[in-house]
Amino acid sequence: MSEIYYEPERAGPILDVFPDAHGAADLAELAALVHADPGAQLVILGPTVTLPDAVGFAARHRLTRPSLGVVLLRDQVDVAVLAEAIRSGVREVITAADPDGIRAACARSLDVSRQLVLGTPAPAKPTREGQILTVFAGKGGSGKSTVASNLAVALAAGGANRVLLVDLDLAFGDIAIMLQLVPRRTIADAVPMVGRLDETGIRSLVTPYAPGLDTLLAPPGPAEGERVGRELVDEILKIARRMYDYVVVDTPPAFTDQVLAALDLSQWYLLVATPDVPSLKNLRLTLNMFDLLEYPANQRLVVLNRADAQVGLTQADIDKVIRAPINGRVPSTRDVPVSINRGVPLMVSSPQSPVSRCVQQIVDTHIATAEEHDRPAHRRRGLLRKGR
Ligand SMILES: Nc1ncnc2c1ncn2[C@@H]1O[C@H](COP(=O)(O)OP(=O)(O)OP(=O)(O)O)[C@@H](O)[C@H]1O
Ligand SMILES: [Mg+2]
Repeated sequence: MSEIYYEPERAGPILDVFPDAHGAADLAELAALVHADPGAQLVILGPTVTLPDAVGFAARHRLTRPSLGVVLLRDQVDVAVLAEAIRSGVREVITAADPDGIRAACARSLDVSRQLVLGTPAPAKPTREGQILTVFAGKGGSGKSTVASNLAVALAAGGANRVLLVDLDLAFGDIAIMLQLVPRRTIADAVPMVGRLDETGIRSLVTPYAPGLDTLLAPPGPAEGERVGRELVDEILKIARRMYDYVVVDTPPAFTDQVLAALDLSQWYLLVATPDVPSLKNLRLTLNMFDLLEYPANQRLVVLNRADAQVGLTQADIDKVIRAPINGRVPSTRDVPVSINRGVPLMVSSPQSPVSRCVQQIVDTHIATAEEHDRPAHRRRGLLRKGR
């Protein structure tokens, strides 16, 4: 049973989404309706309900009726509203003018309620911790974001797996542009929730992209990104791996504190380089650093991007510099910049293209085949701190 109640003033968007929703004239009537119906699973509070009233309603029902989800609609969603609402037990805060967002938020809330009522996990929920895959390169422009976005699409396998793509390039993140997404919220909106973030908090921050694939996007500018610290990244990823089968992390081209937080929690390190001497040299330095950090060699996947570019280096030259096996060779093609400019990853628009096939081969050969018993273990060393 999932009766839906709403506070009816300006109920247009709610009735568009749930034509059979029950209405209440005010909060007192709403509370009475909910009280009379122990099976009620969702309450939508419209934008005319004041924030203190909404927060009070959610807080009163949080412990007495844990299976009742409260979704709050606001004319404008800002960080302060979000933080206060989530703290009180509101499951989601959505812009009133976004029927698709309302529909998705209500569906997620009803999923949670059904689980609580039935006491069984939702069918798609992973039963074990997901794997974190960090895509890294010491040199900018190597193809990290290209690899990360296509990898995330491949891992989601059309909705068969739950995947979160995290843009940890906090100053200049490109994932939103590459996927043509307009972020409602970004990773910077997690800052007020640091220390008490939970699955509901993460859910309120992600921007869905495709079946099974959510994104946690970078803030619009460098200033907001600076507020996202190492502890917050650690907290986000630890919660996210409970919610998703795979968490793919795109990074800036530097060993920042935030990148180290992701690397410390990763099961796979995808190291991207292009066949030019500075990029190969940086890959070698990165591998040296990984040795120092004791990130296991069998968890590293070296991806040579634009592998076929004719730049005067032989395979022997390349091997001599990097001294490590190459696990994937992504060809150079103008399809890549075209796909970036269109905002549609090649793995979506042409899964049979040579670039897509290479990414798929990395998934099939290395990541998806790792069985439970030989899956790389979680490590929690955190050897390197700033200044060490
Ligand atoms: N295989 C490829 N063939 C052709 N062009 C490519 C290929 N891979 C990447 N590019 C181009 O190289 C540029 C950089 O790619 P991308 O943004 O993925 O790199 P990045 O490592 O994420 O860069 P940054 O360090 O700036 O975040 C893009 O313009 C992209 O179109
Ligand atoms: Mg990038």
